[in-house]
Formats: sequence, structure tokens, C-alpha cells
Amino acid sequence: MYINFWYPMVRSEDLSAEKPEKVKVLGLNFAVFRDKEGIARTISDTCTHRGGSLAGAWQLPTQPRIVDGCIVCPYHGWEFGGDGECKNIPSIGYGTKPPARAKVDSYPTVEKYGIVFAFLGDLPENERPPLIEVKEWGDPKWRANSVLVLDVPFHFERSIENGIDPAHNEFVHPTHGHSAINRETYKVREHDVIEGDQKLGIMFKHRYAAPGLQHNETYKSVSANAPAQDIYAGTETYGPAAMITTIEPTAGMAFRQYFIEQPVDETRTRIFFVNMRNFMLDAKNDGPIHARNKVIAQQDIETLSGVYPVRTPIPNTREVHMPADKAVVGYREWLAKWDDKGWRIDWNQFRERNAKGETAFAIPSPGRRTSGNWVLETVPLFKNRKAREDATK
Ligand code: FES
Ligand SMILES: [Fe+2]
Repeated sequence: MYINFWYPMVRSEDLSAEKPEKVKVLGLNFAVFRDKEGIARTISDTCTHRGGSLAGAWQLPTQPRIVDGCIVCPYHGWEFGGDGECKNIPSIGYGTKPPARAKVDSYPTVEKYGIVFAFLGDLPENERPPLIEVKEWGDPKWRANSVLVLDVPFHFERSIENGIDPAHNEFVHPTHGHSAINRETYKVREHDVIEGDQKLGIMFKHRYAAPGLQHNETYKSVSANAPAQDIYAGTETYGPAAMITTIEPTAGMAFRQYFIEQPVDETRTRIFFVNMRNFMLDAKNDGPIHARNKVIAQQDIETLSGVYPVRTPIPNTREVHMPADKAVVGYREWLAKWDDKGWRIDWNQFRERNAKGETAFAIPSPGRRTSGNWVLETVPLFKNRKAREDATK
């Protein structure tokens, strides 16, 4: 898992003005809430007083959770602004200036595409990898399904690799891949792996033979009479945990599917799925399209729940790769670049220190570049790829 990228936190529709949401990303908890202006903010969930969970449980639903745009700690009522500053400490009297050191990390937050995103890292603004762009958003020729949230029980790297894998359709998705492989002629066709349009990952496109789109009404099976057709499909990865899949069932018709993933921890990922389409634009098609996507996602979930090890192994020689895996290899080359920037969390060390139960960690925020005296320790990171390889031996 990597710091220094934008990650989806919650769907806009799930973040009310009255109540913060506690969200676990990169193995740590964050408090996401709306300030006085209704602007979404993200801060570390760990109170610097005695470790209370800022977005944690309260006794009564009537107790205010957000006062004057500040989140109120449920333990002793300390109040924190969206900038992470502690504004009030009830025990010394409201209006008495709290010590500066009481601050918590605050993360740049934007709301776009129906999702609240936070930049989880300490890079200054001009050095940050940009937020993924949903290019078709707002274009009247395209329609967006409401954001679908999928919780999957595996590591995001395995999830992304599954999405850039042109050889799994026929086996995992018999309802939309090739349900009857011809052993005499079948093989994955040639395809190139190049740099992605948004320049933060790899991209490949390929044409594969699929049954026609004549599914039964539950999308569980495909009609035996549907004529086979060629489908143009491809995927671009964006950063470590997002990808954009294009599916063109026929010329001029396209789905553009954005899978923007939230790495929860080592074994869980929450996928925010934005599905754009330039055909069947009527809202009445949203439901059936959702239903179909859910069936397909469930097929991936069932297969991927059994992979071992949970993360992608390093080095690559711990698996046997074929030409159809070259997009996967290309994605791993990008991961190595981010390893070398020192952005990867040293998960084993993080887990060991957490198990000791004496240290609370935070993802470093941009504020740490400009001020000192922070209470929480920052999460352990690998210095580079070599350090990561050495640590896995
Ligand atoms: S632990 Fe948060 S106010 Fe005491
Ligand atoms: Fe799949």
C-alpha cells in the first residue's frame, strides 16, 4: 500500500452534514466530515489527547458530533477543525487556546464524481500525482450510473491485476467471456502494452471473441443461440489502485468503467465503481446494468478469494508468466517506481508494531513538511524496492 496518492474515502451521498464517517484506508482510520460550509474534510481519526476515535461511537444520537464546523471527540469533547487544529478543550474552558501540539494530521480533500477523495500523503500540491480524471463526466452523450461500492476480500494489487488480465474472461466470466472455448483454435490474441493516456500506469487494448449479449433476465447465463462476436476491450491502470476499462461491444458503443479502489488493509479492498456509457442512455437501464456488473464482479470475487499469497509476490520469478501476463508485469514495474520513491508502507513492520499495542500511527500529511511537534508517529515506509526485497527474504 502506498502513501502519496488520492484515494476514495466515501460516496458523497453517504456523508451527511451532521455525522462524521470513520473510514479505514491503508490500514489506518480517518474521520471524514463536512465543515460549516458543507465542504468535505479528512483528518486522522486518532485524538491526540488519549487516543479517542474522533469519528467513533457516541452515547446518544442527540449529542452533536460536529460543532461550528469542528468534529467533537466523543471521549472528552476536544474539538478539531478540518485543518487538523484543536480549537477547544472543554477541560480548560471553551475559548481557552489549546496547545498547538494538540493538532492532528489533516489531508487535502476534494469531492468529485459523487465521491469524496483524500490525498493520503505529505507531498506539497505541485508534486502530487493528480486525481484520476473521469473524462466523460458531465458530457451529455454519456450517462453515469450512481457509484457502486463493492467490498472485496483481497488485496488491491490482486484486484488491479485481475482487471488487466486478458486471459481470465473465458474462465471466470463464462456468461460474458467465451463460454465454449474451441481447444483447436483458442489463444489470447496479440496485444501491445503501452503507457496509459493519463500517464500514471500501463494500458492495453485487445479484441476477443465473446458470445453475443443475449443474456437471460438475471444475467446468470447466456443464450446458447447468441452469435459469437468480437469485442474490443482494454484497460488502463492509474496509480497503484485505480483502473479504467473500456468495452466496445460494437463500433460507436462503449462502456468506460472506472474502478477506483480503496485499499482498506492487507486483505480487504473497497472498490468505488463509476460506470459510464454512451448508449442505452435512459435511466431505466441503470438497474439492469448495475445487476449485470454485480454478477460479473461476484465471479471475480469468488475466484480471487482463493489466491495465495495475498499480495503480488516479489520477485516476479515466484510466479510463471506468459505473454498474456505482460500487462500485469507492466503494472508491477510501475509499483517498483513507487517503491523507489519510498512511498510503500512496510506492512510487516506496521503490523508487528500495531500488535505490540503501544503506538498509534498516522499517514504523514502535508502539514508535516511545514511544521514540527507532531504527536503521532508516521507509518513505517520502505526506503526503496531493494529494501522491500531484502525484507521479504
Ligand atoms: S481522547 Fe479525545 S478528547 Fe480525550
Ligand atoms: Fe473479471
